[in-house]
Amino acid sequence: MKTNWHQSVIYHIYPRSFKDSNKDGIGDLNGIIQKLDYVVELGADTIWISPTYPSPMRDFGYDISDFCNVDPLFGTLEDFDNLIQEAHNRNIKVIIDYIPGHTAWEHPWFVASASSRINPKRDWYIWRDPKPDGSVPNNWLSVFGGSRWEYDARTGQYYMHSFLKEMPDLNWRNPEVVDAMLEVLRFWLKRGIDGIRIDSFNVIYKHMDYLDEPLNPAYIHGENDPFREHDHIYTLSQPELLPLLKTFRKVLSEFGDKFMVTESYVEMPQLLKLYRAGDSLHAPFNFNIFKLPWNLNEYKSFIDVFDKEVGHEYIPTYVLGNHDNHRIATKIGSNQARIAAMLQLTLRGMPTVYYGEEIGMIDGEISLDEMQDPWAKNVGDVRLGRDPQRTPMQWNTEKYAGFSTKKPWLPIGKQYMYSNVEIQQSDTQSMLNLYKTILHFRKQSPALLYGTYESLKIKNKNVYAYMRTYKTEKLLILLNFSEEEQKISLNIPTSQVICNSYLTKEKGSLMDLKNSTLAPFEGYILQLSQ
Ligand code: GLC
Repeated sequence: MKTNWHQSVIYHIYPRSFKDSNKDGIGDLNGIIQKLDYVVELGADTIWISPTYPSPMRDFGYDISDFCNVDPLFGTLEDFDNLIQEAHNRNIKVIIDYIPGHTAWEHPWFVASASSRINPKRDWYIWRDPKPDGSVPNNWLSVFGGSRWEYDARTGQYYMHSFLKEMPDLNWRNPEVVDAMLEVLRFWLKRGIDGIRIDSFNVIYKHMDYLDEPLNPAYIHGENDPFREHDHIYTLSQPELLPLLKTFRKVLSEFGDKFMVTESYVEMPQLLKLYRAGDSLHAPFNFNIFKLPWNLNEYKSFIDVFDKEVGHEYIPTYVLGNHDNHRIATKIGSNQARIAAMLQLTLRGMPTVYYGEEIGMIDGEISLDEMQDPWAKNVGDVRLGRDPQRTPMQWNTEKYAGFSTKKPWLPIGKQYMYSNVEIQQSDTQSMLNLYKTILHFRKQSPALLYGTYESLKIKNKNVYAYMRTYKTEKLLILLNFSEEEQKISLNIPTSQVICNSYLTKEKGSLMDLKNSTLAPFEGYILQLSQ
């Protein structure tokens, strides 16, 4: 069966932490190549690789000093080409991170821009005069803490940085910047990438009046991330972003059916705007699910509306975790994570699996002196640290979990003796086998690939029940969100088990839906008789 973007499953690889092939304790491109067969076995068909560009690595590759090369830590351009080739040989599509909003200090564009007020690249970044008393141009905050402005004594102006001060923002209102960044896109498209994940899409444009942002009344000092102190009406979700999607699409279309996914931490209304401003080969990442409390009603009401509003033209996306957020199994618990996986992989649209989710990896424990993440260091708040979710992939029970033979850049998660690929491959009830079972079933199930989604109103309020239907194939998914056994009695004919979330039930066994019990946090995929 032919799959296209609407049916794809993305596997997200954080390259520093996936597989180290050259024994330096940091993952690399050749390491990813070594593990492509694993991605195929898992049942994903697309990989998204976080950045591998040359970088001073203050933000681990999201701070770029050359957009058209590979950092020696990760390999070479030749390794990159080889990765594309090897992935394509296995029918795996490759999405790379495209970071339009900022560069590293060291990027030659910024070096030129900062060299003098009359340098032709001055306006490639966002420079503003100090206020008469010498202070910052306005109260805008950096996502990573402190002011968004940094003073440059040499030229007597402030430049803007949405993240670290060493990551100055590019000025997307300058057409030369737009052209240069679109050329960067073409550079990678020519090398054969299949799509891009657009980093920090929501932050690219800022309002041109540079007015102070109002305070956020919901902000709780000492409890919330300091960035939340303001209501970001001038620095996030600006209207110019919507037409920008078309600009990117034009370039992508020069190379065929390329996909783009935008990183946007936004709620439903803005999410839907982003969908509608783009086309069917664009989707914003939907992060709403993993932000919800573990509560059936919250999940169900979000999904019911989202599924309907996105419709069949666009691709609904569901993300449970990534390199910026704590791992789902840590947030909600291991059994709940099985339910969340069953939900994510059986909903309409495109799931993204963050490396390690499929073996139930939890956040690693990072001591203060092991802390690497610049955000946490900058704000001085360990809770904001992103290291725990970036610990190395756990492949086996060797000293460094088969990730490397040298001490890795972040410690190996303490649970690796069980939570690793090798052990879980041979454990028929493991999380890994749950992912494989569902993903492989999904590949040949028209109902999961193309079918409609409809949630059912059932008596038991602890069980989320929905149907996926395509022509004669009818699947019923039942998810017990509670920690207690739940009885269900549905007026539906006997059904056949595809799998349950603990993988304890045999495929094809019958389940009498008129009188059944779901174990605590148990989910089922069931095939209904015609
Ligand atoms: C995105 C990335 C994050 C990075 C930031 C700045 O949010 O996912 O890891 O730190 O952009 O580029």
